[in-house]
Amino acid sequence: MIFDTHAHLDADQYDNDRDDMIARAKQEGVGRIVNIGFNRETIPTTLQLTEQYDFIYAAVGWHPQDAKDMTPDDLPWIEELCRRDKVVAIGEIGLDYHWDTSPRDTQARVFREQIRLALKLGMPIVIHNRDAHKDVVDILREEQAAEVGGIMHCFSGSWETAKLCLGMNFHISFGGPITFKNAKQPKEVLAQVPLDRLLLETDAPYLAPHPYRGKRNESSYIRLVAEAAAEIKGVSVDELIEITTANACRLFGIQPPS
Ligand code: NI
Repeated sequence: MIFDTHAHLDADQYDNDRDDMIARAKQEGVGRIVNIGFNRETIPTTLQLTEQYDFIYAAVGWHPQDAKDMTPDDLPWIEELCRRDKVVAIGEIGLDYHWDTSPRDTQARVFREQIRLALKLGMPIVIHNRDAHKDVVDILREEQAAEVGGIMHCFSGSWETAKLCLGMNFHISFGGPITFKNAKQPKEVLAQVPLDRLLLETDAPYLAPHPYRGKRNESSYIRLVAEAAAEIKGVSVDELIEITTANACRLFGIQPPS
């Protein structure tokens, strides 16, 4: 049973075949999915998926790209939703200096407010970090995020950054890019991340693994990510799947499948 720790299956890209795509994932052995609701539009559609499918769970939070649109009502809204059974994390939250669609000080404020909420509720956080490695690490440290820990989603930083995150109680998650021939750094980092801190994800519909690179991604393709990770770690695919699924279940507080 594979655990896809980060997906956006409510995205428009699936409007014509969402049920079939989710059925394919189940057929391929994906037994747990955390779907990410990250703004006013995607939080309700994410929660809807958790009501429709017993094996889909939710993370809810406010994405750094949308930071400028967050109103004073949104944080209490997120807090209220976090009390639902199938909401298992706050995210994705963080900093995005690649697109820079919100001012950086606004991104930082929204990030800090949500870390404080996670500490108050005792929930893990899912971190989005695009070209902002130093500031993300500094904020996690200053806000004492180690108390709750969480996930560095689709990790793209150096081993130095990964070590700092591991030291703050974070898991490191990898997706499609570890299957790309030219993705040297993520493969090198993955080789060094301890197995008990490793997670798998698709980030579907984005970041499809080889040989689907550039096309629409799906949760069922996570097996390709598992195969690439197993090869790099020097363990069997079954073993890698078993360990990463156990890691995710423990982190999110979700019952492992029997
Ligand atoms: Ni995402």
